[in-house]
Amino acid sequence: MILSEYIFFLTKKLMILQKTFLFIFSLIISFFLHIYLIPATQSTTFINENGKQIFIDNCSQCHKLKNLQKKDNSLNKITNIVINGKQEMPPFKNILTKKKINQVANYVFQKP
Ligand code: HEC
Repeated sequence: MILSEYIFFLTKKLMILQKTFLFIFSLIISFFLHIYLIPATQSTTFINENGKQIFIDNCSQCHKLKNLQKKDNSLNKITNIVINGKQEMPPFKNILTKKKINQVANYVFQKP
C-alpha cells in the first residue's frame, strides 16, 4: 500500500469514528435532557395552568388559594377532600374527572 493511500484510509476511518462518537454523545445528552428538562417543564406549566383554570371555575367562589395553601395538608388529603367533600363543601367526584381532581389538588398543594 502506498503511503498516501494509507493516510487516506486512516482519515476516513477517523472520520467515521468521530461521527460515531458525536452520534453517541448527542444520544446521551438528549437522553438526559429528556429526563430532566421535559418532565420538569411539563409538570409545572402544564398541570399548573390546567389546575388554575379548574380552581377558578370550581373552587374560587368559596376559597382563596392562599388560605388553602396556608394549611399544611398533604397532597393526598387535599385530593380526598376534593373527591369526598368536607362539611358544607360538596364532593367533586361526580363533577370533575379523576384527572382534573388530581390537577386541581396539585395546584392547591404546590407552594409558589
Ligand atoms: C360550596 C363552597 C365550596 C366549594 C365550591 C369548594 N369548597 Fe373546599 N371547602 C368548603 C368548606 C365549607 C370547607 C370546610 C372548611 C373547614 O374545614 O373549616 C372546605 C374545605 C376544603 C379543604 C380543606 C381545608 C382545611 O381546612 O384543611 C380543601 C383543601 C378544599 N376545601 C379544597 C377545595 C377545592 C380544591 C375546591 C375546588 C375543586 C373546593 N374546595 C371547592 C367549601 C367549598
